[in-house]
Parts: sequence; C-alpha cells; structure tokens
Amino acid sequence: MNARRIAVIAGDGIGQEVVPAAIRCLDRVAEVHELDLRWEHLEWGSDHYRRTGRMMPVDGLDVLAGYDAIFLGAVGVPDIPDVETLWGLLIPIRRRFDQYVNLRPVRTLPGVRSPLRAGEDIDLVIVRENTEGEYSEIGGRLYRGLPQESAMQESVFTRHGVTRIARFAARLAASRRGRMTSATKSNGIVHTMPFWDEVVASTVAETPEVELRSELIDALAASLVLRPQRYDVIVASNLFGDILSDLGSALTGSIGVAPSANLNPEGRHPSLFEPVHGSAPDIAGQGVANPIGQIWSGALMLDALGHRDAAADLTSAFEAALADGIRTRDLGGTVGTDEMADAVLQRIAMGVRA
Ligand code: NAI
Ligand code: MG
Repeated sequence: MNARRIAVIAGDGIGQEVVPAAIRCLDRVAEVHELDLRWEHLEWGSDHYRRTGRMMPVDGLDVLAGYDAIFLGAVGVPDIPDVETLWGLLIPIRRRFDQYVNLRPVRTLPGVRSPLRAGEDIDLVIVRENTEGEYSEIGGRLYRGLPQESAMQESVFTRHGVTRIARFAARLAASRRGRMTSATKSNGIVHTMPFWDEVVASTVAETPEVELRSELIDALAASLVLRPQRYDVIVASNLFGDILSDLGSALTGSIGVAPSANLNPEGRHPSLFEPVHGSAPDIAGQGVANPIGQIWSGALMLDALGHRDAAADLTSAFEAALADGIRTRDLGGTVGTDEMADAVLQRIAMGVRA
C-alpha cells in the first residue's frame, strides 16, 4: 500500500488532546487494513504566533502542498483575536488548496440525545460552498466615525463555482437517497440567488436520478428543526451553509461529535479534515474533551483518500463504543478523552476478530 503523508496541526486547546487520541485510533485501523499512514506534526498555531507573529511559517502553504491530507485539531485562544487565527491559517489553506467543498455529515449517534423531540434517525449531509459567495474581501468602509459612515461588502457567485458545488452535491445525493435540497433566498436577494437557483437546477439536471427541491433559507432552517428526517443532501452557499452546518451539529446533540471535511474533490491539492468544534478553552488541559468529532473527521479523511472499508470500520467502532454506553462528560458520561479513544480502539480490534 502506498504511504499516505499526513500533515498534523493539533493547534490550540483541546486540539492538543483530541488529535493524539484520534491518531491512536487511526493507527489501529491502518494496522488492521494494512494502510501506511505517515503523520508529520507541524507545531503551528497560537504558540507559533506568539513567537513569530504568524500562525504558520511564511512558506507554510508550500510545505502543506506536499502532503496527501491535512489533519487539524482547532486553532484559537482567548488572548489572540480570532480574526488572526482564522485568517492566518484556516482561510489561506482553504483558498490556496481550492477546498471548495465543506462537508458536514449530520447523523444521530447511539446514546447521543438530540435536543429535538423529533430528533431520531437524522441522517443528512450539508454541502457548503467554501471559496466564494458572501465571504469575499470586496468592499469597504466610508466616512469612518462620521454620522454618514457606511460599509459595503459584495458577494461573488460564479458559474464555475456554483456548478462545481452543485455537481458534487448531486453526485453525493445519487450515492445516498437521491434527494437534494438547495438553500436559496431568491425572493429577497434578487441578483445572486436567482443565479444560484438557475445554475444549481441546470447542473442537477445532469443527474436525473436526483430529485431537487429549492427551499428558502429561513423556511429551511425552521423545517430542519421540525422535520430533519426529510433531508438527505443540502447544498448551500458559503454563508447559508455556515449557519446550517452549526444548526446541523446542534440538532444531533453534542458539538463534540461533529466532523467536517474541507475537500478539493479532484485531489489536485490536499484536503483538510477537522472537527466542527473549536479549541474549547473552558475545558482545555483537563483531559475531558470528547475525541469523537476528531475521530470521525479522521474517518472522513480515510474515505477521501480512497480507504472506504477502513473508514467504515472506524465509524462502526465509535458507534459501538457509544452504543455500549461509554461516553464523555459532554454526553452525560464520565470517561475522559483517552478512555473514550481506548474504547473505540478496542472495538476496531474486536470488529476484525469477529
Ligand atoms: P468551541 O467549540 O471551542 O466550544 C464551545 C463549547 O463546546 C464549549 O463549552 C466547549 O467546552 C464545548 N466543546 C467543544 N468541543 C468539545 C469537545 N470535543 N468535547 C466536549 N466539549 C466540547 O467554541 P468557542 O468556545 O466558540 O471557541 C473557542 C475558540 O475556538 C475560539 O478561539 C474560536 O475562534 C476557536 N474555534 C476554532 C475553530 C477551528 O479551529 N476551526 C472552530 C470554532 C471555534
Ligand atoms: Mg461556523
């Protein structure tokens, strides 16, 4: 099996705890499936920032370009503005490596209680456009500090960008239950959103087995809370997808279990895998963080690298551990980060012996 070189950025806070825990599980699954995963640890993040004024070295992106994947914990500390940590590391990585898909699976896990009354059997994926849309740098502020002060920020939607995210989502829907929902707001945002609707509709028409519905983002948000089981794949622009993703991870219980992938689906550049949660300064250093979001992100990484069986085994292992009642504090349990990872690890081995 070809070696896979993976850049590891554990980052800040609980990133330093959940990343090593997840790597132990990934190493076990790699052993079982005879995969050669080579981890290379990069000490980037807020400590690097304090020493050098930068989150990563000047040539950091060139260094990362040589890897098959990037496995990230979290970045962010209370004493450095989030805009520095975000724009100094994550955003440049997403842009340089054209990670135009942000993938967020949202699924009910055994023993993880949804806050919803109708919270059982949720199984959907949010596909967020990750490179353009509302998060552009085009705009400015005028008349700062004066009564007539104003601010403007432009959204950017391109045919290329909308087509490729819609195509990715349609293929994903075709491999699942064949239902795709597009988040829109073409009644209020009268230029970019009708364009989004047109391009999504014509792209999805290439995949006739997929049934497409367009829903207004406000109604969609409400309906996700009331009837989450209706959804299979949801495709959304950068801003709408950002909001829906956090809503999605809240629907299924703890933020500690939610995974994400930032994908360059063609594999021309490395993709990045990270849990949805941040560095959780409130619990950092206590050994109580839930490692499942990080482990599940590792399963998404194995899947994207083409190791589907290994990914499925790892997923079944953490589901089995949860089903057996082994849970961290955020899920109402008592075990710590390392014990949770041990429980997952043991179930990988059990799966093979069985
Ligand atoms: P957060 O996700 O770090 O924490 C929110 C709450 O969830 C906290 O109460 C925390 O204890 C809990 N929590 C999070 N992950 C958990 C886990 N694995 N197990 C158990 N409990 C968990 O979000 P917050 O507090 O808004 O942000 C903290 C820092 O993290 C900020 O600097 C922020 O910018 C950064 N951040 C970084 C992200 C990234 O690296 N992609 C994403 C989100 C936030
Ligand atoms: Mg967010």
